[in-house]
Amino acid sequence: MIIKKNGPLKGSIRVPGDKSISHRAIMLGSLSDGKTEVDNFLMGDDCISTISCFRQLGIPIDLDSNKHKVTIHGKGLDGLTAPSNQVLDVGNSGTTIRLLSGILAGQSFPSIITGDASIVKRPMGRILTPLRQMDADIESKDNNNCAPLQINKLGRNVKLNGIHYHSPVASAQVKSCALLAGLYADGETKVTEPYVSRNHTELMLSEFGASVHVSDNTASILPRPKLTGRKINVPGDISSAAYFIAAALIVANSELLIKNVGINPTRDGILQVCRMMEADISLENIRTDGGEPSADILVRHSNLKGIEIGGSIIPTLIDEIPIIAVLSCFAEGKTIIKNAEELKVKESNRIEVIVKNLTNMGADITATDDGMIINGGKTLHGAKIDSKLDHRIAMAFTVAGLAADGSTSILDPECVNISYPEFFKDILGFNQ
Ligand code: S3P
Repeated sequence: MIIKKNGPLKGSIRVPGDKSISHRAIMLGSLSDGKTEVDNFLMGDDCISTISCFRQLGIPIDLDSNKHKVTIHGKGLDGLTAPSNQVLDVGNSGTTIRLLSGILAGQSFPSIITGDASIVKRPMGRILTPLRQMDADIESKDNNNCAPLQINKLGRNVKLNGIHYHSPVASAQVKSCALLAGLYADGETKVTEPYVSRNHTELMLSEFGASVHVSDNTASILPRPKLTGRKINVPGDISSAAYFIAAALIVANSELLIKNVGINPTRDGILQVCRMMEADISLENIRTDGGEPSADILVRHSNLKGIEIGGSIIPTLIDEIPIIAVLSCFAEGKTIIKNAEELKVKESNRIEVIVKNLTNMGADITATDDGMIINGGKTLHGAKIDSKLDHRIAMAFTVAGLAADGSTSILDPECVNISYPEFFKDILGFNQ
């Protein structure tokens, strides 16, 4: 994919539905009694992997791809059946493998769960630890704390213990895994994390009828609720909106309205970063549906200032760091990103990949152990960008290419299908 400087982004756009919420809608819809209808579902490869796993677990799911509508015919907390293919394949989806493992740990049938070449390298020890503390029978088949994971090998009658787990990482996938296993435990399950991570699981579980309690950095759930099917309207994904926000900020004369974007405070770090950078950005039409707030975001081209971020804001923008790094190259002064070591275990080692690719484009950027330091203001030039099959890298560097001199070529651009299949059509669709 070749990207060249383009004219301003003007008018309005809608980005696809939120990936995290779409996954959870399939999972909780499947474990509920009755029908769950989901609108604005993200038809990206990751969420399709979740659908295919639950179909294999015996849940009928109807898909109307053109209308982004999904109907799940839930069978209740005990309605899953042994997978038709012994092995459940999550593709590239970290959310599917970690959350579904929590659910499978509570089932009285054996299963094996695995995924693509990237998934089998990502750390699963972080979910094995709490699940084993709950007395789940789960092992890494190759004994390397990675997938494939074998769950309840002997198909025994499962009894999980409720625990209070203190997670060393602020990870919604770890927290959600334990809370979902907690649906099948013999008492309350609590998770405390160092900083609050995205809370979509807690919000949606409550909406479906579970008893969830949240206080500061701790979320807890009581076992065996009756979950009831419902309607879910998925807001646009702020992680996808971030590429349009950034493009409008750095391409001269842009003025763009991004409609219907989720602005859950556990996800809105990118908005805070824009404000700290002195960007011209405002929210309109703020509303809440199913506990999830959303808004239209108006962005205008701006002169940006370098900033320092770290600590509790990091989990609220963890997936936006590739595009924040790009933005920082167009800001005046120094940007420091710290406490973001989690970037090393995403779909690629994002610290390494961001720094290498931005350096190739002429940026002044240095990797650190837990982030990076960028001295903004250097003119970027086009380069060959290796996306490492990481969707967020491909999209962030497309935006960089829109404001860089010369032409930028993105290798393996089709990886955007993971979270935003129409990305190139949408981002390159202005001025045509
Ligand atoms: C996600 C949580 C985050 C995020 C991922 C989606 C989720 O991962 O990076 O893209 O839907 O729960 P961690 O929980 O590992 O931080």
